[in-house]
Amino acid sequence: MDKAIIGGTGVYDIGNSTSMEVDTIYGKAYVDIVNVDGEKIVFLARHGKGHSNPPHLINYRANMKALEQLGVKYVYATAAVGSCNENYSVGDVVVIKDFIDFTKSRPNTFYEGGETGVVHTDMSEPYCRNLISKFYDEAKKLSIDIKGEAVYCCTEGPRFETASEIRMYKSLGADVVGMTNVPEVVLSKELGMCYSAVGIITNFCTGIGGDIELHDIEGAMNKNKEAVTKAFINVFKG
Ligand code: HPA
Repeated sequence: MDKAIIGGTGVYDIGNSTSMEVDTIYGKAYVDIVNVDGEKIVFLARHGKGHSNPPHLINYRANMKALEQLGVKYVYATAAVGSCNENYSVGDVVVIKDFIDFTKSRPNTFYEGGETGVVHTDMSEPYCRNLISKFYDEAKKLSIDIKGEAVYCCTEGPRFETASEIRMYKSLGADVVGMTNVPEVVLSKELGMCYSAVGIITNFCTGIGGDIELHDIEGAMNKNKEAVTKAFINVFKG
């Protein structure tokens, strides 16, 4: 099984599947094996099925190591994101092209010295161009309107940002803000996987729109999540 889809907030399954527990040296990961026209695709709900793991406590290393152990080489992920770019509004779909990391307290590498060694992974292109370009092709066939390519600022959470923080992130070049893509993309790169994330805008960030609530975020995801995951599946089928 060399293909996986990671579902973020609002994306908790992608069809008929068999659940599986994978043991890794970092702990357990829980995945579903989805049969798509005879092809097995691994699905991983990043926050757990009932959104039970907050962003700062997700066991990213167990998740990514489990995918590696299953043989995964290609990963598409969904990401619910707030927008700090007026060109992207609620329900819009963006391709993530780069990230800015403001996380604080997460294990963010497999390389911790000693036996694991010291490795400085190249981040000049964190997101896989090949998967992005295949996503564009399939999105076009499904009439998904991709609004642009976005710089993702990853915050520690679980709280939302202050208005001043959002002004700062925006001034640094961020277009969208989320709480999970780091270290997920970093760990996938360390494992030599091709990883691509597609953002669905669920709200305007603090200070730009009104109050932000999890149920509004999940509601906004509903608009495009099925089309986006279908495009992922179609790439994997092709
Ligand atoms: N900030 C951080 N993470 C998010 C947001 C936000 O506004 N919306 C969805 N995930």
